Order: sequence, then structure tokens, then C-alpha cells
Amino acid sequence: MSKTASKPKKAVAKAKDAEASLVPIFVMGKRYEVPASLTIQKALEYAGYQLVRGCGCRGGICGACGTVYRFPGSYRIEVGLACQTVVQPEMYIAQLPFFPGNKAVYDIETLPAVGGTIAALYPEVFKCVGCGTCTRSCPMDIDVMGYISKAIQGDLTAVAQSSFDCVMCGLCAARCPAEEVQYNIGILARRLYARHLAPKAKHLAEAVKNVEGKKFDKALQELKKKDLEALKKIYKSLEIEPDMADESWTPTDKSFLGE
Ligand code: SF4
Ligand code: SF4
Ligand code: FES
Repeated sequence: MSKTASKPKKAVAKAKDAEASLVPIFVMGKRYEVPASLTIQKALEYAGYQLVRGCGCRGGICGACGTVYRFPGSYRIEVGLACQTVVQPEMYIAQLPFFPGNKAVYDIETLPAVGGTIAALYPEVFKCVGCGTCTRSCPMDIDVMGYISKAIQGDLTAVAQSSFDCVMCGLCAARCPAEEVQYNIGILARRLYARHLAPKAKHLAEAVKNVEGKKFDKALQELKKKDLEALKKIYKSLEIEPDMADESWTPTDKSFLGE
């Protein structure tokens, strides 16, 4: 006589918990039940979607996963990064794999680092109506309307500094009634600031000089002659920079630094 093995009580309780914590979501109109603890990105994969576009770092950095959602009975369109936003019951979800924003073409070397450059390349900046939707949409909590206002005033440094955390997700532009492409204005200001206005870093200039002067070439040639095992041994024995080291830290063995 065969006997069906009964499941251990703990396993049954666990399975019931998991079942109880499933929530319904809608992806492009189709209903799925997914664990309540998942981010939208993981829920999409749980539902069987293979993310080829609209997914990059999975850590809130690359801005590839801009997502739009809404709840039934609510007129509000909500936005977020799929890798950072946890699912909620009855979410209607659609992803923005790419937002087709206006992008000026320029040569940063010859572009004048003056406030008027933004207006010349993105004259639509003056169409801003000050509604604040961009600021409310930004998953990085940037005062987007604030930096657009600084762009209108021609304050390049302020635009560069206040847009610094932008991940280029495009959610602000997707919601803007004036059809601004805020993130392209921000990156233009940051490029101009970094290329022409920011104080030069002395250590970087020195490092470039050393590379151009072939200071490391001898050590590099020596490394290129070694086989894989020898390279692994060197790698494993390398002195690692301590976590809280200050910027003057250098390893005891400086042979690979050309010294
Ligand atoms: S959403 Fe557009 S119009 Fe509204 S404040 Fe932002 S940039 Fe201006
Ligand atoms: S400024 Fe716009 S593009 Fe940049 S992170 Fe915020 S919403 Fe995304
Ligand atoms: S996948 Fe990179 S920000 Fe979400």
C-alpha cells in the first residue's frame, strides 16, 4: 500500500504565507499575481518577461528602467524606476524603454561655456510653465524645475551642480507639458562645467603627464611577458588600499608605478 508523504507543517505554513503575500498587478493590461516583496523589475521577470531593454544596472544608477503606473480609480499617473519601486496591489504598469527626447549635437571643445549656450541649443527651455511636474516625477529627488529655472537664467554652474545626480531616466521629460528634455539640458551644463569651468585636478594632470611620458611602459612590458599563473600570483599578492585611506596613500611596492 502506498502512502502519500505529508508535507512538514513548517513547509505548508511557508507555502501558505507565500500564497497570501501574492498581489495582483497588470502588465500591458494582462493580470499577474506576483510576490508582494518584489520590485517591479523582479515582478516582470517573475511573470515571465525577459528584460532585454529597459534594464541595466538593477541598482538605481543607469536610469534604463523608467516605468509608468496607475491604480484603478485614480486619475494620477505615477512614475518610478522599476528596479527601485516595490509592486503594490492593482498596479497597471508600462515601461518606458526609451524616451525620444530632443538632443543637440555639439563639439564640447569649442562650445562657449556661457549661460546663453543652453538657450541657443535648447530654445524650448523658455517654454517652461513652472508646473513642477518634472520635480515630482524625478526618482532621484532632484529639483528639476529648479535647475531648468537656473538654465533660463543662464547659470551654468548651478545647473551642473543641481542636476549632478541625474540618471537620465527620461521620466521628467515624459511628463513635461512644455516638451522640455531636462536631462539633456542638465548634461550639457555638466559637460560645459567639467570641460571649461571646473578647477583642474592637479593629480589628474600629473597622471596624464606620466602616461604620455611612458613612465609605466617598462612595468607594462614586463607584465605582458608573464603567463596567466604568474599574473594571478602577482594580482593576489598586490597590496590593497585600506578602506579609509586618504588620497596620499601609495603601496609599499612602487615598482608598478614606475618608481
Ligand atoms: S515639467 Fe516642464 S513645464 Fe513643468 S516645471 Fe518642469 S520643465 Fe517646466
Ligand atoms: S532629472 Fe529627469 S532624467 Fe534625470 S533622474 Fe530626474 S527624472 Fe530622471
Ligand atoms: S536598471 Fe538601472 S536604474 Fe533601474
